[in-house]
Amino acid sequence: MKKLWGGRFTKTAEEWVDEFGASISFDQELVLEDLDGSIAHVTMLAKSGIISEEESLQIKKGLQELKEKAAKDELQYSVKLEDIHLNLESMLTEMVGPVGGKLHTGRSRNDQVATDMHLYLRKQTSVIIELVSEMQAALLKQAQEHVETIMPGYTHLQRAQPISFAHHLMAYFWMLERDKQRYQESLKRINVSPLGAGALAGTTFPIDREYSASLLEFEGIYENSLDAVSDRDFILEFLSASSILMMHLSRLGEEIILWSTQEFRFIELDDSFSTGSSIMPQKKNPDMAELIRGKTGRVYGNLMGLLTVLKGLPLAYNKDMQEDKEGMFDTVKTVTGSLKIFAGMINTMKVNTGEMEKATKNDFSNATELADYLSGKGIPFRESHEIVGQLVLTCVQKGCYLADLSLDEFKEANPLFEEDIYHVLNPVTAVQRRNSAGGTGFEQIRKAIQKAEEALK
Ligand code: ARG
Repeated sequence: MKKLWGGRFTKTAEEWVDEFGASISFDQELVLEDLDGSIAHVTMLAKSGIISEEESLQIKKGLQELKEKAAKDELQYSVKLEDIHLNLESMLTEMVGPVGGKLHTGRSRNDQVATDMHLYLRKQTSVIIELVSEMQAALLKQAQEHVETIMPGYTHLQRAQPISFAHHLMAYFWMLERDKQRYQESLKRINVSPLGAGALAGTTFPIDREYSASLLEFEGIYENSLDAVSDRDFILEFLSASSILMMHLSRLGEEIILWSTQEFRFIELDDSFSTGSSIMPQKKNPDMAELIRGKTGRVYGNLMGLLTVLKGLPLAYNKDMQEDKEGMFDTVKTVTGSLKIFAGMINTMKVNTGEMEKATKNDFSNATELADYLSGKGIPFRESHEIVGQLVLTCVQKGCYLADLSLDEFKEANPLFEEDIYHVLNPVTAVQRRNSAGGTGFEQIRKAIQKAEEALK
């Protein structure tokens, strides 16, 4: 088959060589973006008097028909035609005749493919922003129900201080809020048109780049034609925002996995988000959370992959850049899937408030309360820390917890201890009293929930 660029060639490559170079197996994902870009380009060509109105209408009719077929999944691609751009152009010419050959006037596949990627990521980024909000809504819903559910807070995965379960969930809400901001911020740079940059240097035709950009609802155009066709920063930003998001999902996934163990028993995942074992009948596994934790690796890989592809490339387009696509598509699929799963998993999980609360009682996570109590009565914190440390040691030796000590034992350690110490030692009191801004105190959480509701609107 003669190539669309076959004029200067006397020999064609063997089929397996063609196949190696082709991108149609994956860039067909860009079919609608490519057709929209072409419609805008051809509209601009006619408006600028580069082709006639009649020619433009013929071409656009063909492109429109291709869009309809694409929507119905009726297009048949050929690997011999290399990529989505050449496949569509060849289909167009078959439909509308030689006038189809005018579509590519004043354009190159280099600005064409860049335009497609900008359009694609703009659409996908908006979808992802929406999905992040849905997951935030799920976290918020659980948080609203569990303001007064207390659990141990951890550092070093050792019980540290009691906190509210809502507070823990809301930490993820705010992480996701930053993720959303990163995507939103990146839209500014996605929403710029490379169309009309040509192969690298612009074109001799009197094109109107601002006009084609406005047809595609881009906010502006690239200032420099070399930069327009060489830039993949906007994809790197997407991959990097996605890597950070996946890292957050992976951390929450890890906690969900821990919390669902028999050792913790803090939550139970709904059956619809769990799987069983083929041999052990009792098993209920948090597969989805594990899988998302695992899939984080491929998203990081996609980021590292593209950074590495780009690092040695001279300006402007190089075929290496065809490698920008699969990692991007894969990341879109991974991130959208993970967010949907997580929203469902959080929405339906059952919280064992009793187990959580029990876990705050049988430990020393109220020791800080005692130290704060003494310091509140004027003892320097370092000294209080030492006194309470000794009380903890006494308990460890006796095999009891702080609340089990008698008032006499407390007074022996320091005469400033009074009867109210038992109230202070109650984990609920401990949580409630942490009323500093952003703390786990119930009042603070209620404020945070209000702010979160505002942010979600
Ligand atoms: N399939 C190519 C890609 O994805 C399209 C651009 C081809 N440009 C070229 N000069 N060979 O990068």
